Amino acid sequence: MPIQSERLILRRWEDADRQPFAEMSSDPRVMEYLSPLTPRSACDAWIDRQLAHLAAHGFCFWAVESKGDGAFVGAVGLLRVSYDAPFTPAVEVGWRIARTFWGLGYAPEAAAAAIRFGFDALQLPEIVAFTVPGSRKSRRVMAKLRMLHDASGDFDHPRIPEGYPLRHQVLYRLTRDRGLSVAAPSGA
Ligand SMILES: CC(C)(COP(=O)(O)OP(=O)(O)OC[C@H]1O[C@@H](n2cnc3c(N)ncnc32)[C@H](O)[C@@H]1OP(=O)(O)O)[C@@H](O)C(=O)NCCC(=O)NCCS
Repeated sequence: MPIQSERLILRRWEDADRQPFAEMSSDPRVMEYLSPLTPRSACDAWIDRQLAHLAAHGFCFWAVESKGDGAFVGAVGLLRVSYDAPFTPAVEVGWRIARTFWGLGYAPEAAAAAIRFGFDALQLPEIVAFTVPGSRKSRRVMAKLRMLHDASGDFDHPRIPEGYPLRHQVLYRLTRDRGLSVAAPSGA
């Protein structure tokens, strides 16, 4: 069953998403704080990893579609953190939205639906998020979700080599007890 919010559907990846996902992933402003996904085969491999994670765990970074016209909006969802860090084991919430749709509140809306799925269906006690300190837009999304910055948990990403600008990350947490402040989705 896809997850729904007021304006969006979070659903399993389809082959038709591969081209718009590759276009979004070639936008330097979308990728400013993300590991590069080039060439096109890396985009396809990224989607294949989401499908494998979905098959193994029942969740992933889903494809996000606009309810209004079916347009591909981006990728938002939950992933098990796949490396060891002081805050693991953990499930992270993450987002990337195609630039045409920035500023509409889509990332917090979709992330809230994903988090609700994590707390209700998966019964997760906590969901984390992380980004580089300078990623102001993402940190705004975390704040809109009522996530709290745990400065004591800021860390160096073990998969990013020393000296690379994306290595140092700020850690945000949201416990199920604290919950969400954003409006409930209309479906799912
Ligand atoms: C971060 C991101 C997901 C936000 O998505 P969104 O749907 O635009 O989220 P919002 O509409 O709630 O906007 C969040 C903040 O982004 C900034 N923002 C929104 N639209 C913007 C634009 N067109 N130009 C510059 N900044 C913008 C604003 O600071 C906004 O906060 P505000 O609502 O208090 O003004 C989106 O910018 C994105 O995909 N960025 C690239 C991918 C990325 O960095 N992912 C996270 C990696 S950890």
